[in-house]
Amino acid sequence: MDIFDQYESNVRSYCRKFTDTYETAKGSIIRDTKGDEYLDFFAGAGTLNYGHSNPAILEPVIRYMQNGGIIHALDMHTVAKASFIETFENKILRPRGLDYKIMFCGPTGTNAVESALKLARKNKNRRGVFAFTGGFHGMTQGSMAVTSDAEIRNSAGVPLYNTTYIPYPSKEYAQFDSIAYMEALLNDDHSGIDIPAAVILETVQAEGGINVAPVEWLQRLRAFCDRHDILLIADDIQIGCWRTGTFFSFERADIVPDLVTLSKSISGGGFPMALLLMKPELDIFTPGEHNGTFRGFNPAFIGAKAAVEFSVTHDMTGGVQRKHQLVMDKLKQLQTLDDRIEIRGIGLIIGIDFSAIAPDLAGRVATLCYDNHLIIETAGRGNNVLKLLPPLTTEDALLQKGCDIIINSVKKVLML
Ligand SMILES: Cc1ncc(COP(=O)(O)O)c(C=O)c1O
Repeated sequence: MDIFDQYESNVRSYCRKFTDTYETAKGSIIRDTKGDEYLDFFAGAGTLNYGHSNPAILEPVIRYMQNGGIIHALDMHTVAKASFIETFENKILRPRGLDYKIMFCGPTGTNAVESALKLARKNKNRRGVFAFTGGFHGMTQGSMAVTSDAEIRNSAGVPLYNTTYIPYPSKEYAQFDSIAYMEALLNDDHSGIDIPAAVILETVQAEGGINVAPVEWLQRLRAFCDRHDILLIADDIQIGCWRTGTFFSFERADIVPDLVTLSKSISGGGFPMALLLMKPELDIFTPGEHNGTFRGFNPAFIGAKAAVEFSVTHDMTGGVQRKHQLVMDKLKQLQTLDDRIEIRGIGLIIGIDFSAIAPDLAGRVATLCYDNHLIIETAGRGNNVLKLLPPLTTEDALLQKGCDIIINSVKKVLML
């Protein structure tokens, strides 16, 4: 029995799949205590879009700390925070014509989601929220209440109220017009459904199994929200920060959400940080109404500023699109092995769906991949989808190597 088995809670999970003990990491490679290398196609669940220990991000953080920069400052004004806000405003928001105020939340994604829900309810003075089948928004009670996964919801231990689940345009509901359904619910005074404060949306569902909402559907959703005076919350925690090819995932649909949550890769290097962006007129919080001790971890602000600067001096959009094509071209081979394998995705979030063949194939492929030193997760209903989420900076040769490991693992599992 090792120290983790002996002393760490049973709640630990990823370490049960990726079982070695890791010591160092650089770019897309993680090393364990024996010096063995693992290729990382998980990227801290979307936290390491710019790679592990990217020097362009890490070095300013180290310099800041060595020079005595303030580390913790609650939500007090600091030079580090001001310089992040200025950079984010000038290099991300303004060039996109986006007018948002920034709230620094507690440092986890779920805290940004809680903040968004709280602010939406306060603004509209309504309790209900529409959320989507397949959606995932975090593990605190408010976020679990808008998360569809039964196991997660059951873990809450209390009833989760005030959410109406609407079918997401994933393959499970391919023929269903959910915008027309929502419209019908709100126009029917016998539907039993009150007008909600907000709709919470992932434009690409990650944990839900890599479901990419069509552009037209996203535009109809925005128009639906406008028609009924409902706030649109875009949860960009996993799919923001260039993952889909643009900084915000909703740019491809040319829509502007009222509230946007960001976390994971926003700090650039795995430092805890989360943001809620809000249209200025929605900022009706009273001072301290959403509080938290760790809203001022200043090394994260330094990392976040450096990450924005890194990203705007590299062709992230072009790079992600090119790498997407490279991966898709490689993975085409899978469909020659079995044409029931479905591959879908956008940018560098790509899913391989085995559900049409048999349950648990994706898990077995992921285990074999790990045996061959590729770290990769599963997602979706029954964990039937293998989820490729490499750092966006992964070199072409490593992307190809990872795809080869996946293809060989699939062949073995299918006994070909
Ligand atoms: C879309 C989305 N929202 C919210 C969260 C919750 O973030 P955190 O785990 O940092 O609380 C996640 C985490 O995976 C996520 O993918």
